[in-house]
Amino acid sequence: MPKPTSRILVVNDAPKALASVVRGLNAAARSLDNPYGLAAIGVASASEAIAAIETDGDIQAALVDDRLYDLDDAGADTSLSAVELVRRINALRPEVDVFILIDRAQEDEVVDSLFTETVDGYFYREEHDPRGMFRIIQAALAERARTPFFDALRSYVLMAKDAWHTPGHSSGDSLRDSPWVADFHEFMGEHAFDADLSVSVPMLDSLLEPRGVIADAQKLAARAFGARRTYFSTNGTSTGNKIIFQTLLSPGDKLLLDRNCHKSVHHGVVLSGARPVYLDASVNPLYGLYGPVPKATLLDAIEAHPDATALILTSCTYDGLRYDLPPIIAAAHAKGIKVIIDEAWYGFARFHPAFRPTALEAGADYATQSTHKVLSAFSQASMIHVNDPDFDEHGFRENFMMHTSTSPQYAMIASLDVARKQASLEGFRLLSRTLALAAELRQQLNATGVFRALALEDLISPALADDGIRLDPTKITVDIAACGHTSDELQRELFDRFGIQVEKSTFRTVSLLLTIGTTRSKVSRLYDAFMRIARERRPPLAPRRLPELPRFGGLRLLPRDAFYTEGERLPLLDDEDRPDAALVGRVAADAVVPYPPGIPVVVPGQVITADLLAYLAGLLRSPRREEIHGLVTVGHRACLRVVTRAEEAALQPLAP
Ligand SMILES: Cc1ncc(COP(=O)(O)O)c(C=O)c1O
Repeated sequence: MPKPTSRILVVNDAPKALASVVRGLNAAARSLDNPYGLAAIGVASASEAIAAIETDGDIQAALVDDRLYDLDDAGADTSLSAVELVRRINALRPEVDVFILIDRAQEDEVVDSLFTETVDGYFYREEHDPRGMFRIIQAALAERARTPFFDALRSYVLMAKDAWHTPGHSSGDSLRDSPWVADFHEFMGEHAFDADLSVSVPMLDSLLEPRGVIADAQKLAARAFGARRTYFSTNGTSTGNKIIFQTLLSPGDKLLLDRNCHKSVHHGVVLSGARPVYLDASVNPLYGLYGPVPKATLLDAIEAHPDATALILTSCTYDGLRYDLPPIIAAAHAKGIKVIIDEAWYGFARFHPAFRPTALEAGADYATQSTHKVLSAFSQASMIHVNDPDFDEHGFRENFMMHTSTSPQYAMIASLDVARKQASLEGFRLLSRTLALAAELRQQLNATGVFRALALEDLISPALADDGIRLDPTKITVDIAACGHTSDELQRELFDRFGIQVEKSTFRTVSLLLTIGTTRSKVSRLYDAFMRIARERRPPLAPRRLPELPRFGGLRLLPRDAFYTEGERLPLLDDEDRPDAALVGRVAADAVVPYPPGIPVVVPGQVITADLLAYLAGLLRSPRREEIHGLVTVGHRACLRVVTRAEEAALQPLAP
C-alpha cells in the first residue's frame, strides 16, 4: 500500500517564529515514527492560509498562531484575527485538525471565543516543544485514520479460529474444494468468505446494540459527518428512511412530503400510518425529469400545516438538484416541525466546500445517506445521521431493531468504517479531482455539437429560478435528442460498442454519475465514445415530450388503511386495450412506481382519476424498457390492486 503524504499548515506572520516552528516540526517528523508522511509547511498571511486550505488536499492539520493576519495582499482593512481564520478554515474543511499557538496572557480570551468551534488543541508559544506538538498533531490524525471495526474484523480473520457457527459456508470451507461450486469461492476471493462471520463473534460487537468496535466506528462517523449520532444501516437508505419515520410518526400524524421522494419514503408512510400531505414537485416535461418542490409551495405548506410532525425532502435529487435548505428548515423549526433530508445521493457533500452546506449543516434533524452510492462503501451500506435535540434514542433503537437483520453483513459495516476514513482524509482531494473532471467532461460533451450537458437553467422550470436551487455538477444529465438514437439504443450502443454503462436515462437524456472513483482515463473513453457517435451524424429523432403526470387527485383513505385491505385486482386496460374506465374513482391499495427513478405515480389511498389512468396506460404501452413496480399480472393483463367498495365503506375516509 502506498504511504500517504500529509501536511501540517503552520500560519504565523512573524517570519522568524514561523521558520522556527516549521523547522522544529520537520525535525520531529524526521526523527519520530511518521506513518502518515507528515511534514510542516509555513505561510505568513491569512490569504495564503486560505488558498492553501482550498487547494492542497494533503493538508490534514493547521497550526495557527494567535495573531492578526492579512487577508488580502492588495486591499485595505484586511486584518483577520486568528479566531476568524480558524472559523474560515473550519467552514472550508471541517475535517482538518486545527491547533492554536497562544500566549499564556491571552489564553482565556482565545479559548472562550473558540469554545464552540472544532479546535483540537492549544499550545503555548513559550513552551518550545516541537516534538511534543508533532506527537499531538499526529495523534489527532491517527484518530481520524482509525478504522476500529475494519481492524477488528481483519484481526479476527487473521486469527483463523475454527468456525462452529453460522454462516453455513463456514469461512468458505463448504465451497473451497467442491467440484461444483469452488469457482464461486475462487471468483469472490477467500476474504469474501472468511470475513463473513456470525453475530456470535463477540469481539465484532453487535450492530443492533453496539458497545464496542461498531459503537466506536459510528462515533468516528458522527464526528466526520457533523452529527450528534450516526448509525450504520446495512439495508440502504431505504431502511434508514423507514426507521426514522417509525420513530417520529405515530398513526395519524401529519407528514409533509415531496411527492418526488423515493419509494422508501412512501413505504415509511404506510408503515408508520402517517397522514401525508403531498407537495407537488416541479416537473421538467421537456427532459422528463422531476425537480424540487417550489420554495413558495413548501413555505405555504408549512404555514398551512403547523400541526405537522415532520417534513421530508430529497436533497440533492438523483439529477443533482439541491434545495436552499436553511430558510426552509428554519421555517419548519419555527412551527416545531422536524426535518428529515434524504441525502441518498449526497453522502460526500461534507468533504468539499463546493457541495456544502450539508443537510445537517443547514439545520436538519435527520439525514440519511447511501454511502454506497457515492463513496467507497459496499452496496446497501448507508448511514443515518441524527442532530435532533429531542432525539428519542430508545424509540429509534426499537425501530432500528425492527428493520435490521439479526445477521448483518460485516463486510458492509467495515466498508462504512473505511469509507468514512477515506472521506475524512482524502475526500477533499478526490472530490476536487471529481469536480475538475466533471467540468472537463461537460465541456467535452458540449463540444461534440450533438450532445449537451444540461445546466441548472435547463433542468429546473422557470418557476424555480429564484429558489436558490443549486446543481451538483458531478451528476451530468446529457440531452441526447440530436444524436438520432433513442435513449435505450444509445445505452445499448455505449455498452456493446464501448463498454460503458451509464447511470440511468429518460426518453431524452442519459445521466452520468461521477464519483471519487472516476478517473481521467474513464472520462477520455467516454468522450471518445460520445464523439464517435456524434460524428455518425444520424438524423435526429422526432421530438417527444413526457406525458404530463396528472395533478394529484387526492387521498380518500390513509395510505396504511388502503394498503392493508384485501382489495381486488382490476386490469388497467380493457378488452379493447383502452384505459379501463372501471378504475376511475376507485382507491388504489398499492403504490405504482416506475423504476428508475423509483418515484411513485400512485400511492395507496389515492383516488384514480381518468387522467391518471390514461397516464398509467401510457406507461404500460411505452416502448421504453421500464420496470413498473406495484402492478400485478393476472393472466396476461397488468392489474392494479384497488380497495373494494365494501372495504372502502367500512374505513374512515380522510377529510378533504
Ligand atoms: C432519493 C433516494 N432515496 C433513497 C434511496 C434508497 O437508497 P438505497 O438504495 O441506499 O436503499 C434512493 C435510491 O435510489 C434514492 O434515489
